[in-house]
Amino acid sequence: MPERKNTDFDRPGGYAMPKGAVQVHRNAVRELAEANVKLYGDKIEAYEPASIKNIKPAFSSKKPDTKLYVGDCRDVLASLPEKGSVDLIFADPPFNWDVPYDQWHDGMPRAEYERFTFDWLDGCIAALAPHGSLWVNIPDDSAAEVVVHLKRRGLFMINWCAWHFRFGQNRESSFIMSKVHVLYFAKNPDDRIWNPNAIMEPSDRASIYGDPRTMAKENNKGMRVPMDVWYGKFWGRIQGNNKERRHQHHNQIPEAYLERVILACSNEGDLVLDPFLGSGTTSTVARAYNRRSIGIEYSKISAENAWDRIARVGMIRKGEALGQSTAIFKNRRQNPRPQKTAEPQPV
Ligand SMILES: C[S@@+](CC[C@H](N)C(=O)[O-])C[C@H]1O[C@@H](n2cnc3c(N)ncnc32)[C@H](O)[C@@H]1O
Repeated sequence: MPERKNTDFDRPGGYAMPKGAVQVHRNAVRELAEANVKLYGDKIEAYEPASIKNIKPAFSSKKPDTKLYVGDCRDVLASLPEKGSVDLIFADPPFNWDVPYDQWHDGMPRAEYERFTFDWLDGCIAALAPHGSLWVNIPDDSAAEVVVHLKRRGLFMINWCAWHFRFGQNRESSFIMSKVHVLYFAKNPDDRIWNPNAIMEPSDRASIYGDPRTMAKENNKGMRVPMDVWYGKFWGRIQGNNKERRHQHHNQIPEAYLERVILACSNEGDLVLDPFLGSGTTSTVARAYNRRSIGIEYSKISAENAWDRIARVGMIRKGEALGQSTAIFKNRRQNPRPQKTAEPQPV
């Protein structure tokens, strides 16, 4: 018998997920949560967070409420008054790559690092509201463990994105690393904050082919939700004399990245949390878009520097990366490539 084509998609298109697969995926989330899957880090006992009485941020500001706690995020998360009501969490943890952070020791034995990872992920899950979203920035060597842990805790994977940068460190022993995984999970896929109109970009169909059909659409002419591989102008690693660079920090990520996450998955007035604040990117962008935020940072000196950025410097590229085409071919028609054909809608 010839193969039958599945035409029953949750949305049209070649690589859209067929409806059956979506259902299988949903069942798998439930089954995995009950399956008692073991990972290497489970051989170590879970961390017992310190209970911090009358917990107080080291820095805070109003309009919108912005708080920065200094301490181990596993302890702070467990004692937060806002526990259970955070709308969005973005986490860019230490990768265990021996980075010389001011205080944190970034070179644990593997099992300890996995245990640490599970513990802070569990703290984040407890801090999230039932409609909350959790994003994790994580490289190849730990992405699989993070995904399995979140799945065994019953969270639902909405997207597995990649942040692609073109300034990876040169090497000849293997392909050059040019991406980090950007994992997007939600507690409830059917009840989450999602603002596609805020983050639209010109589609390839519009930018390369000037296709009149996409320009004739009633809404969002020539625009699309970005693809799950993220790159483009203002998306490079923050190095050298980049205008955004905060010199006292390691592994600062671009404002454009947090701008996309925050606009897509929170509304004005919502509460955004970053358990590894570093140079303060998350709170800086959250503040620029009128979101309340909580940052946690282990190093007092890094926290002081981050606060200077959050409270004094602010976001320096607000809106500059939004609505940019990421097409990799030139316009094939005579007409100039449409740039910013429609402004993303503020939310
Ligand atoms: C990869 S950096 C975050 C960079 C940040 N995304 C930015 O854009 O600047 C990780 C940060 O987490 C901090 N850190 C490490 N372990 C921590 C812990 N247990 N609790 C809180 N902060 C921690 C480190 O000091 C470092 O500043």
